[in-house]
Amino acid sequence: MPVTIVVGTQWGDEGKGKLTDLLAAKMHFVVRYQGGHNAGHTLVVDGQRFPLQLVPSGILYLHITPVIGNGVVIDPKVLIEEIKTLESRDIDSSALKVSGNAHLIMPYHVELDTLHERHLGRSRLGTTKRGIGPAYADRAMRLGLRVQDLLDRDIFHAKLKVALNHTNKVLAKVFNRLPLTPEDIAEKYLDEYAPILKPYICDTVALLHEALEAGQNVLLEGAQATFLDLDHGTYPFVTSSNPTAGGACTGSGIGPLHVTRVVGIAKAYVTRVGSGPFVTELFDEIADRIVDVGVEYGTNTGRRRRVGWLDLVMLRQAVRLNSLTEIALTKLDVLSDIQQLKVCVAYKMNGKRFESIPYHQSVIHQAEAEYVEMPGWSTDISGITDPQQLPAAAADYLAFIEDAVGVPVRLVGVGPAREQVLERQTCLQD
Ligand code: GDP
Ligand code: IMO
Ligand code: MG
Repeated sequence: MPVTIVVGTQWGDEGKGKLTDLLAAKMHFVVRYQGGHNAGHTLVVDGQRFPLQLVPSGILYLHITPVIGNGVVIDPKVLIEEIKTLESRDIDSSALKVSGNAHLIMPYHVELDTLHERHLGRSRLGTTKRGIGPAYADRAMRLGLRVQDLLDRDIFHAKLKVALNHTNKVLAKVFNRLPLTPEDIAEKYLDEYAPILKPYICDTVALLHEALEAGQNVLLEGAQATFLDLDHGTYPFVTSSNPTAGGACTGSGIGPLHVTRVVGIAKAYVTRVGSGPFVTELFDEIADRIVDVGVEYGTNTGRRRRVGWLDLVMLRQAVRLNSLTEIALTKLDVLSDIQQLKVCVAYKMNGKRFESIPYHQSVIHQAEAEYVEMPGWSTDISGITDPQQLPAAAADYLAFIEDAVGVPVRLVGVGPAREQVLERQTCLQD
């Protein structure tokens, strides 16, 4: 089982970090393949909470080589702070490898992200304002600086000059801001950050292929999720990378034939941070309850997450887009004590019914959910260690999901801690 992909199936924060940490027990490498520090992945081990942004979620194991792949955008200041924070908690990050081909988030990317959002006004996307979109935009414009440029002062200066030649005009003429001076940026990046990051920088593609040739196991850890995907998400309310499984290949440099397992992480309900359509969104006291019990506030930005019922139209699409071999359903414990649960099985608009995602986005903005109601359960399931002990209503909920989407729900989260995951034998073939 050489390459496993962990991918979010909804709008992020499904518990990818936690499941990556769990699955990493049997891996050799854990690779982040896209996104940046817009991600917030939380691990809870031995009662301690570890919120990660850029460092892969295998970091807690001594046997894992954590890798930040070429598809990631890196703010060096944030990465250095994260390494220091981990070290202050006795987590050794010295095995970390960072791709020289990954792009750098520069100070002007962060500024542009904030300015773009401000200019969009009521149409704002609700980005994390970390500079992610502008960094990927510069990459596509061929104006980006890469991690390897930190190792060559002349190239860094030359590229920064070209980038600022463009960006300073945008800052001044579009946003009426003062130009940035290359010297200030170069001093920080070359004199302060580069010496600290140098030992981590390498050719991660060669490293991973040598590992695969030696029969080692690699886990590719997605950030964000299927419906935040630049191509397949609810555009423009998306991130600027490809979290879907295809992005795992390009973002790590590993071809698709190495991949044998694709684990889709789904919350037992749905959450979303930021703007955009959300067919099953709840605005009632059940929403408040789920936010309270599920602690639905961003790991990263602290923003209250929007919540809604589980959406099987989305989940079916996630199965297709990612070739999911199985689903890990997290936070089932949060649904305990809700008398009547609802699951969205189709969208409806103007007399039409959609069991698959409608291709025209405006339908998603206006559609209503068709729900199947299911009885809830009142027992606390957070202490359960054997799936056979799940209340019948919870087992029915899982069986309903896997029947509807056609892949097994193999793992079930019943609490935030590493060991609070049940492994099921399911009747579906995989
Ligand atoms: P990620 O971005 O997909 O890694 O997810 P986040 O870490 O941003 O958000 C998931 C949150 O749910 C974190 O606070 C986790 O500790 C927590 N969590 C994960 N799985 C479970 C679960 O099965 N039950 C409960 N109650 N919490 C969980
Ligand atoms: P993890 O990996 C949830 C959302 C933002 C915004 C949109 C674009 O923890 O699941 P960006 O800053 O990427 O340009 O913002 O994407 N977003 C996330 N939502 N979880 C995340 O990461 C997210 N990363 C970005 O809220 O709506
Ligand atoms: Mg998160």
